Amino acid sequence: MPGLLLDTLRGKNARQRPVWLMRQAGRYLPEYRALRAQKGGFLALVYDCEAAAEITLQPIRRFGFDGAIMFSDILIVPYAMGQDLEFLVGEGPRMSPRMVDTALSALHAVPDRLDPIYATVRRVKALLPADKTLLGFAGSPWTIATYMVNGEGSRDQHETRAMAYRDPAAFQAIIDAIVSVTVGYLSAQILAGAEAVQLFDSWAGSLAPAEFERWVIAPNAAIVAALKRLHPDVPVIGFPKGAGEKLPDYAAGTGVDALGLDETIDPLWAARNLPAGLPVQGNLDPLLLLSGGSELEKQALRVLDAFADRPHVFNLGHGIGQTTPIEHVEQLLAVVRGWRG
Ligand code: CP3
Repeated sequence: MPGLLLDTLRGKNARQRPVWLMRQAGRYLPEYRALRAQKGGFLALVYDCEAAAEITLQPIRRFGFDGAIMFSDILIVPYAMGQDLEFLVGEGPRMSPRMVDTALSALHAVPDRLDPIYATVRRVKALLPADKTLLGFAGSPWTIATYMVNGEGSRDQHETRAMAYRDPAAFQAIIDAIVSVTVGYLSAQILAGAEAVQLFDSWAGSLAPAEFERWVIAPNAAIVAALKRLHPDVPVIGFPKGAGEKLPDYAAGTGVDALGLDETIDPLWAARNLPAGLPVQGNLDPLLLLSGGSELEKQALRVLDAFADRPHVFNLGHGIGQTTPIEHVEQLLAVVRGWRG
């Protein structure tokens, strides 16, 4: 029996809403911090399949979320493409060499760096209750490229946008290489037990319209088409953060099965302007989880009510913050679980 989350991603509008939270495994949980301290670092955790499976399951045990998202990171793909990767505490990821000054052909791919992720997925699948949905994921090519080109995060993806204008052929080659690795990566996650997959495009919002078409819609459409040929029944969730009024074009152009919405999108606008029946996921502002209280409840109900007429997966508009109090997550879950459309 597929669970509520998988049913909803396949287009069923049940009266009860499935719920999971982006970045639900992580530093706001004391049990995560304890295991991370023991293993010594983020990448060490990701590459210890037993620990990564345990961390994937921690939020399911504590909160009973409807979905478990495998514990890994989107930057494992460029790591497997041959870039070096480090996570500096308090600063974030660092990658080298930077593709702004290095040819793609200079990288030596290390595909084995993906294998432990599949082992984690198999392990979680064996332990996860059947009514919970196991989610795989990858970063979308544009977002991955912004880290590959610049070597670290950036405020407005300046280096990468400039490179895409200056040398579109070289940039296209990077995007194409990411598409190809990502299709194999997501397909292998599915074979290992992932029941749906999400494409995270965290920096989709920084592109002008023609560039959005070329670097966001086209590569995600290629990934979706390839996955549909291989795994026609596995839903793909697209999450083009910051896409705003380009969302209807993204939905139509990529063919994703469900659309993740960030917190800048008015749920009433989305309900009116997105194709009828298209499942949506989102989109409570994660900052409301810091304050909690009546505003949290009011805004959560606003999201739930707005999407009453279509399949809806309750989630945040982006990842849960590391200072989020556990009690506020519990408060939110009580609101979502008490709601009936
Ligand atoms: O959602 C989940 O619980 C699954 C695991 C997951 C992580 N990262 C774990 C993680 C997922 C789905 C991601 C996605 C991810 N990673 C994105 C896309 C979504 C988004 O947040 O925009 C991006 C852009 C990254 C890249 C990344 N990873 C950055 C910029 C950082 C450093 C900033 C930070 O939050 O520390 C990471 C590290 C990271 N990825 C952590 C976790 C739990 C924190 C690691 C730690 O120090 O313990």
